[in-house]
Amino acid sequence: MIMEMVLLLLSLLFRAVAAATKDVSSCSCGFLDSRTGKVWTDAIITYGNETDELPPDALVTEDYQHPYEQNWNARYRAGAASRNVGSNDSSSPGWTGNAWTLSIDRPTKHHAVVGASIRSLRTDIQYGTFESYLGPPKAGVGGSVLEMRLQYNDSQTLAVSVMNADAPTDAWTSFLVYGEWRGSRDKGLNFTDFGNSSYNYQPSPWGLVPYRMDWTDYQADFFIGDAKTRSVHSGETGKPWPVTPSTLYMRHFSIGDMYTSEGPPPNGSYAHVGMVRAFFNSSLMSASDHVSYDARCHQSGPTCRVQDTTLRGASPFAPAAAVPYKEKGIDYTKRWPAIFICAVCIAASTVLLLHALIKRAPWKKTPDITSSANDSTLSVTPSSYFSEHHGMADAAQTPGTGTPGAITPAGARTPRPRSEFASGWSTPQLESVPMPAPYWRNSLEITPINDQSSFVGLSIDEKKGRFVEQIVDKTKQPDVTVKEVPPLAAAPPPIAPKKARVDYLAGLVALASVLVTLIHFCLTFLPATEIPYTHAHYESENWALKIVSPYLLTFSWIGPFFTSSTRFLVMSYLKSGNLKGVAEKTVGRTPRLIIPCAAIAALEYFCMQVGAITWLEYLASVTWSTWPYTSNYVTFGHFISEVIELMYIIPNAVPQITFNYCIGVLWTIPVQLQNSWTSLLAVIIIREIKTPWKRMAYYAFCIVMHWYAMSWGSFFWAGLLIADLDISYKWKTWLYARKHVYYPFIIFCILLAIGSPSIDLVGQWKTWNFNTLEYGVHIHQASGHRIRDSPAYGYPPYYLPRLTALTFSIGFHLLVELSPLVQKFFSNRLLMWLFPHILTLYLIHGLVFWSLGSVICVHLSAHGVPYWANMLVVATCCYTVIFGCLPILTPVIETLGKSITMNIWRDASQKPPVRRKTLFPFDAGLLADGERNLASRKRRKAAEAGDVERDGGEIEK
Ligand SMILES: *[C@@H]1O[C@H](CO)[C@@H](O)[C@H](O)[C@H]1NC(C)=O
Ligand SMILES: *[C@@H]1O[C@H](CO)[C@@H](O)[C@H](O)[C@H]1NC(C)=O
Ligand SMILES: *[C@@H]1O[C@H](CO)[C@@H](O)[C@H](O)[C@H]1NC(C)=O
Ligand SMILES: *[C@@H]1O[C@H](CO)[C@@H](O)[C@H](O)[C@H]1NC(C)=O
Repeated sequence: MIMEMVLLLLSLLFRAVAAATKDVSSCSCGFLDSRTGKVWTDAIITYGNETDELPPDALVTEDYQHPYEQNWNARYRAGAASRNVGSNDSSSPGWTGNAWTLSIDRPTKHHAVVGASIRSLRTDIQYGTFESYLGPPKAGVGGSVLEMRLQYNDSQTLAVSVMNADAPTDAWTSFLVYGEWRGSRDKGLNFTDFGNSSYNYQPSPWGLVPYRMDWTDYQADFFIGDAKTRSVHSGETGKPWPVTPSTLYMRHFSIGDMYTSEGPPPNGSYAHVGMVRAFFNSSLMSASDHVSYDARCHQSGPTCRVQDTTLRGASPFAPAAAVPYKEKGIDYTKRWPAIFICAVCIAASTVLLLHALIKRAPWKKTPDITSSANDSTLSVTPSSYFSEHHGMADAAQTPGTGTPGAITPAGARTPRPRSEFASGWSTPQLESVPMPAPYWRNSLEITPINDQSSFVGLSIDEKKGRFVEQIVDKTKQPDVTVKEVPPLAAAPPPIAPKKARVDYLAGLVALASVLVTLIHFCLTFLPATEIPYTHAHYESENWALKIVSPYLLTFSWIGPFFTSSTRFLVMSYLKSGNLKGVAEKTVGRTPRLIIPCAAIAALEYFCMQVGAITWLEYLASVTWSTWPYTSNYVTFGHFISEVIELMYIIPNAVPQITFNYCIGVLWTIPVQLQNSWTSLLAVIIIREIKTPWKRMAYYAFCIVMHWYAMSWGSFFWAGLLIADLDISYKWKTWLYARKHVYYPFIIFCILLAIGSPSIDLVGQWKTWNFNTLEYGVHIHQASGHRIRDSPAYGYPPYYLPRLTALTFSIGFHLLVELSPLVQKFFSNRLLMWLFPHILTLYLIHGLVFWSLGSVICVHLSAHGVPYWANMLVVATCCYTVIFGCLPILTPVIETLGKSITMNIWRDASQKPPVRRKTLFPFDAGLLADGERNLASRKRRKAAEAGDVERDGGEIEK
C-alpha cells in the first residue's frame, strides 16, 4: 500500500516536473543569454535522463568509416556505428539517472576503430552557445576522445575534447579552434587541475562534467561549468576563423594520437553524454526574415532565456536547414587577364628552354667522350664529380682548375695504368680547352691535374719514405693558372684523362645514397621494417626488420659518406704538401654544401606553400608511421637564420630547418662541415709526423678519442687513415705483392663489413642490444657519469655515431679499396650514372615521397587497394619521378654549388686577367670611326650595285 502511494507520488512529481518544462517552439522571439547579452533564435535541448531515444527531429546517429585521418600522429582511423549509441544508468558523479552511452569497439586488424557519433540534423548553425555534460571513459581502459564539435569542413572547426588517455595522470580536456596543435596542453586543462583555484570544479572530472562553448564571428569562449577556461580571438589563431554554417557533433572516437588522446582502447570502452543544450542562429535567416523578426519581436524582445533549465525540445526548421551549406564557386572569368599573361610567359619560357635544350643537345654524346678509351669513359666523369659532390672536393681541384679552361697534359690523352705514374712522369704540355664547359664536361678538364700532383707525390716515393717537399712544378703552376684562355678559341676536343681510379668509391657512395633513400621510404611507408614495436601491415615486415634491415636498411650506410668524403679533402695535400689545396677546400667547402641545400630547401618550402605536402598530414593514418612531419617556416627571416645556423652550428645541435625539411637529411650537413675542418687540420699534422709507427699511433689515439666522445670525427679520421695508407704508403701495391697478408686482411675486412650489422641483427632477436650497451659506456655530458648510470640510458639517438656503424663503414670502405672484385661491382654503369646525381638524390627524395607518394598512398588506400599493391605503385611512381628529375635538377645544383664555389676560389686566389675592352675582339675604332664605317657601308652598297664581289675586303679597310 505504502509502495503504491510512493509510486503514485513519484509519478505525480514527475508529471509536475514534466509539466514544468517548456517547449522551445514557444520561444518564437529567441533566447536571451543574460551572461553575454546575445540573442539566439533557435535551440536544441535534450536530456539523457528524461528520454532514452535521441529526439528524432533534432539529433541523429551516424554510420561511417574514415578512409584516412587528418592528423600527423593518427595511427588509427575513426569510424562510427549507430549500434554504438545507447542509454543506460550512469553511476558517474555529476549526473543522476540515465545518460546516453557512446561506445567504441576494439580496434580492428586494419586499424579501424569504430566508435559512435551523434549529429544535429541541422547544418545551418552559425554562432551560438553550446553546452553538454560529457563523461569520459573509465580511467585506464585506453585512450579515446569524447568530443563536442562544431564543424563545417576539416578546416572550419571548434571543439571541446575530453581525453581519458592511457595513463590516468595524462587525462585532459582540450579547447581548440582549427589550426592549433592538438597536443598543446596550454590550450586545455589537465584533469588534475580542474579543482584548482582558477576553475574550482569540485566534482570529479571523471564523472559527467558540464562543458560549454560560446561561438561568435570574432571570438570563442570555453567553459567548465561557469568558469572560463579559454578565450580565443579570431586574430590569434593564424588560420581562418570558423565562420561557416556548421553542424553540431557529439562523438566518441580514437585515432591513437600519442600526443593527445593516446589509445585506442584495446578492449573498447564507452563514454557518457548527459544532455545537450544548444542555442544558435540560423545561417538561412534572410533579410526579409530579419525584417519580420524585428516587426514581430521588437516590442516583446526575446521571451525566453538561455539559462532557463525548464526548456526542452528543438526549434522547428525548414528542410533547407538540413542541407549542407555549399560555398559559392569562385568566379574564374575575372581572372582571364592573369591566365592570359601566365600562358604567354609559360609559352615564352618553354620556347626558350627548348631552344637551349636542342642547341646543347645533352642527350648526344660528344664525340670526344665516346672516342675516349673504353670503360674509362664512364668512370672518368663521376670520379671528378666525386670531388664536388656531397662536399667531397678532390685533389682535382688543385690550382688552375679554378679557371674553367684549365690545363691538360697531353700525356694524359690515353688512359694509363697507375703504375706508369709510379715510375715517373711525363712533362705536362699545356694546352687550353674550351671555355663553354657544360657541367658534364667540366670534370674532364679538371682531372688531369691529378697527374701533376701524383707526380709530386711520387718523387717522394723515389726517395724511399724520406718526405721531401719536392714540388717541382710549383714554379710552373702560376704561369698556368693565370694563363688567359681565349674564349671560344678553336679548341681541341676535351681529352679523356687517366682514369682516376676512385670509381668504386663513387659507386659505394652512390649505393649508400640509394639505400638511404630506401630507408626513408620504409620509415615513411613501412615503419615496421625500421622501427621495432610498431604495427605491421604484414607479418613479412617484422621479418624484414629482423633480417634485412640490419644489413640493407641500416643507418650505418651513412658512414661511407663520411669516410670517403675525407679522401677528397685531403688527397691533394697528402700528395703534394701544398697548402693551397687545403686553403681551397677551406674556402669552398661551406658554399659548396650550403648553397645547394639552401636552394633545395627553398624549393621545398615553396612546394609546401603551394600545398604539395597537403596529403602528408593524412598519411600516418594509412601507413601507421608517425615519422614524417614537416611545416613551413615562420617568417622568411627564420629561413635565412636557419640556413646560417646550418653552417655554424655544432654538430647535432641542429636548427629547426632539419626537422622541417622533407626528411631530415640536413642533419648530416653540419656533421660534414664541422668534420671537414677536423680533416683539413688533421692532414696537416699527420703529414708532419714522419715516423710511420708514430703516425699510426696518433691515428689510433684520435679515432679512439672521437669514438669515446661520441663524435662523428672517428669516421673522418678513419677515412683519412685509409687515404693516407693508400696515397703515402702505397699499401695496395705492398699488399697485392704479399698474398699471405692480403687474403687474411681481406677476410678481416669482410668480417668487419658483415659482422657489424650482424651484431645489430642479433639485437633484433635478443633482449639485449649491443648499441645500447655501447652507448652506456660513454660519458653523460650533463652529469659526468657513464650514460649507463644516467637517465639517458637506452638506444642511442640516430644522430650519434655507433661503434657498429664505424666498424661497418671501415670494413666496407677497405673492402672496396682493396678487393678488385668488389671494385668491379661498384664500378658498374648504373652506379656510375647515378653518381653525379647523389647530392640531388639526397636532397630531393624526401620531397617526392612526401608529396607525390603521400597523395598516391592515401588515395589508393581510400579506394581499398591492398597495401602491398599500394606500396608497389607508390615505390614505382616515386622512384620514377626522382630518377626522372635528377638530370634536370643536377645541372641547377651544380651551377649553384660548384660554379659559385669555383668562382669564389678563383676570385680569392688568382690575379684577375687583364681587363678587356668591352668591344673585344673589335677595337674602339669600330664606333669612334662611325663616319668611316658609314662611308664604307655606302661604298659597299655601291659595290653590290656594281656587282663587285670584294665587299668583305672593303669593310676590313
Ligand atoms: C536530469 O538531469 C538534470 C541535470 O542534472 C536535472 O536538472 C533534471 O531534473 C534531471 N531530470 C530528471 C527527470 O531527473
Ligand atoms: C552501459 O552501457 C555500456 C555500453 O553499452 C556497457 O558497457 C555498460 O556495462 C552499461 N552499464 C550498465 C550499468 O549497464
Ligand atoms: C573549408 O571551408 C572554408 C570556407 O568555405 C574554405 O575556405 C576551406 O578551403 C575549406 N577547407 C577544406 C579543407 O575544404
Ligand atoms: C598536464 O599533464 C601533462 C601530462 O601528464 C604534463 O606534461 C603537463 O605538464 C601537465 N600540465 C600542467 C599545466 O600541469
